Amino acid sequence: MSIEAPVVVEVGLGDRTYDILIGSGLLSRAGAEISGRLPGTRAAVVTDANVAAAHLDALKAGLDTGGIQPAIITLPPGEKTKSFAHLEEVVDGVLAAKLERGDIVIAFGGGVIGDLAGFAAGIVRRGMNFVQIPTSLLAQVDSSVGGKTGINSPRGKNLVGVFHQPKLVLADTGVLDTLPIREFRAGYAELAKYGLIDRPEFFTWLEKNWVQLFAGGPERTQAIAEACRAKADVVARDEFETGDRALLNLGHTFGHALEAATQYDGSRLVHGEGVAIGMALAYRFSSRLNLASPDDAARVEAHLRAVGLPWRIADISGDLPDAEALLAFITQDKKVSRGALTFILTRGVGQAFIAKDVPASEVLSFLTENHPDQQKMRPR
Ligand SMILES: NC(=O)c1ccc[n+]([C@@H]2O[C@H](COP(=O)([O-])OP(=O)(O)OC[C@H]3O[C@@H](n4cnc5c(N)ncnc54)[C@H](O)[C@@H]3O)[C@@H](O)[C@H]2O)c1
Repeated sequence: MSIEAPVVVEVGLGDRTYDILIGSGLLSRAGAEISGRLPGTRAAVVTDANVAAAHLDALKAGLDTGGIQPAIITLPPGEKTKSFAHLEEVVDGVLAAKLERGDIVIAFGGGVIGDLAGFAAGIVRRGMNFVQIPTSLLAQVDSSVGGKTGINSPRGKNLVGVFHQPKLVLADTGVLDTLPIREFRAGYAELAKYGLIDRPEFFTWLEKNWVQLFAGGPERTQAIAEACRAKADVVARDEFETGDRALLNLGHTFGHALEAATQYDGSRLVHGEGVAIGMALAYRFSSRLNLASPDDAARVEAHLRAVGLPWRIADISGDLPDAEALLAFITQDKKVSRGALTFILTRGVGQAFIAKDVPASEVLSFLTENHPDQQKMRPR
């Protein structure tokens, strides 16, 4: 494995400021990086069975270089792990290891493990130290940065959680080589999101460079670093999502509804795929409301299709609830304030904005038109 000098991106939050290190080979120096910042601490690693099988030995060896011999808590992979039952398992594992408040919970996995372990770190002993070692592309470009943690409720995604910032994020780009291609694509959706929100030149760069990025190499590190800079900027401005940070939810209102409608069944839809479809729908919906041009919506759809991502509701296998039931999932989502629907809409590529008071009737008509049942009935 090659070891390159990592790119360092800072998340500026006053005395809680922390670094994101991005580069290949970081697992091997995890112990030194952690003990340099949090000397003399003990740790528990929370991971899932897939990540453990591929990379846990390498992480343990890397932690050992800093004198850290962690307790290990291994959970089943998948979105359903973000549950109260598994939260209890993590809390119990951390307490059983007799870790103190100043000790560290290390999240070693994708966004599921990061969200769950971060939540546990936020509540055990009223808040323990927390380090993110993200192993999926999605986690490296999005979920490991910014301190949002939590679990799902049967009533919707991420409805239970806390803000709890990590002390350090170590994004080893080498571990992405074992990530299944479907998951890599799903993470790519969150990467493209930053271009679609407010970095149009980044989206154009991705249109030109996505093949090299998928193949690995400098474009991959470059893109992950750009995404982390974009996210760090937003988080430093609006840590608790009282304003701008909501822009990061582009595609998520539709996406979360589709995830709930498929009962978080990863064989049908994983989170990043829901975001891909959600972003395409947000652009198409903006065009329907005469905010953006249909050409912009078509450009976004074409790029998602080119990289092999799903981009319309009809790309989800199996039956789906009808448009009204999808709307009910949307109104359950936390981005609803006192009954008014808040959406991230756009005036063009890289021109997203927060739209409050979007009429539910418009959303319903749009979902009805774009529902696969309706499309099946349309003459070809
Ligand atoms: N907190 C936030 O700000 C935030 C932001 C975006 C998404 N999220 C959350 O992130 C979750 C999705 O994250 P995800 O897409 O990483 O899902 P995930 O954690 O389920 O990981 C995807 C799959 O890839 C496997 N995997 C991960 N790294 C691997 C590796 N290096 N090699 C082989 N297999 C590997 C996992 O075992 C899993 O099967 C969702 O729950 C979403 O709500 C949170």
